[in-house]
Amino acid sequence: MAANGESWLSCIKCGQKYSISRRKYVCDRCRGLLEVKHTFPENHTEKEFHGVWHYKPLIHPSLEKARIVSRGEGSTALYSHDSVSEFSGISSLRMKHEGENPTGSFKDRGMTVAVSEAIRLGATETVCASTGNTSASAASYSALAGIRSNVLIPTGNVSPSKLSQAIAYGARIIDIPGDFDLAMENVARIAENSQDYYILNSINPWRIEGQKTIFFEIMKELKECRFIALPAGNLGNTSAAGKAIREFREIGIIDNIPEIISVQAEGASPFYNLWAGAMEKLEPVKASTIASAIRIGNPVNWEKAIREIRYTGGKVVRVSDREILDAKRAIDRAGIGCEPASAASVAGLKKLVEEGQIDRNDSAAAVLTGNILKDTASIMEDSARIPMETFMRELTA
Ligand code: F0G
Repeated sequence: MAANGESWLSCIKCGQKYSISRRKYVCDRCRGLLEVKHTFPENHTEKEFHGVWHYKPLIHPSLEKARIVSRGEGSTALYSHDSVSEFSGISSLRMKHEGENPTGSFKDRGMTVAVSEAIRLGATETVCASTGNTSASAASYSALAGIRSNVLIPTGNVSPSKLSQAIAYGARIIDIPGDFDLAMENVARIAENSQDYYILNSINPWRIEGQKTIFFEIMKELKECRFIALPAGNLGNTSAAGKAIREFREIGIIDNIPEIISVQAEGASPFYNLWAGAMEKLEPVKASTIASAIRIGNPVNWEKAIREIRYTGGKVVRVSDREILDAKRAIDRAGIGCEPASAASVAGLKKLVEEGQIDRNDSAAAVLTGNILKDTASIMEDSARIPMETFMRELTA
């Protein structure tokens, strides 16, 4: 019997255990994904911390506090707005704004934990592939910790705002002539050839531990929440949602199990195909969508994510780029704003209301994963400007 506050890595396929003192992402025996397991201490929160580390006993109980690399992430706002509720068809829709994190996306919640872990393990270099937000966050937290970050960027597939964050924070940028999936394959190649580069993609099980806190906060604030919707790309966040729900249930904080609604863009929906087709294995696709953050055809975390969808009795939904942009417009015009990929969460809920699968009186939360300034191309295309003369004519008419 493990002592309270102990953590270990466990293979989700064969159950093989590994010590957390090893830098490991997949099982040596069966190549299955690893997850962090803990024996939870009596106290589930740490009073002196806000945000992510408030839940330290549930994400990394044994970590020395002095080793935490943090910018004060988490504790984001939950908005509601009549016009977005009306747009979605759900009268009490709430929006959890993860764009309010230090680098402008939910990635910071996973990154504070994974980079703290990098330091604990003595890593001096980090590496990740990214559609943009992970690289911005990895670059910031690596710089804060005084280690170098290397980011593999799929050329032409990353928004200039996100790339400029990674550059500004001093990351070494490695150009990948292809898409995110090719960049991710190259991270796997690096991992096979060297132990020197600590991987900060969500295949790193510590990323998931930090991201659980999005859902801890939602469940704490919305006691009776029935649906939690989120955009899905590499499926780390869907995995984090399920793990958070399972653990809150296990330690008796919730009785009901919120259903996870994982939303993909139509042009990048291999996880939808897996779920809807009841297939055994995910079939990778060539991804294409305006929502560049979730332009992913071969998500690494699918085996964790499908388990969590099934555990919560949730659903996978796919929405068109038009539906994503319409939802973004509704969120933007309400004064809240988000990047295109984030709006997929609201678009997915709206779709389920229209299909009669969600009732207008059901309680639902949508995770807005990234800030409005993260990917502005679609906004600029939409902008209608008028000459000063026209304005003056209106004024004096
Ligand atoms: N929303 C935004 C804004 C994202 O940046 C991402 C992923 C997702 C949703 C999907 O989350 O991968 O856990 O299913 N962005 C990664 C990146 C892939 O490189 O920044 P997921």
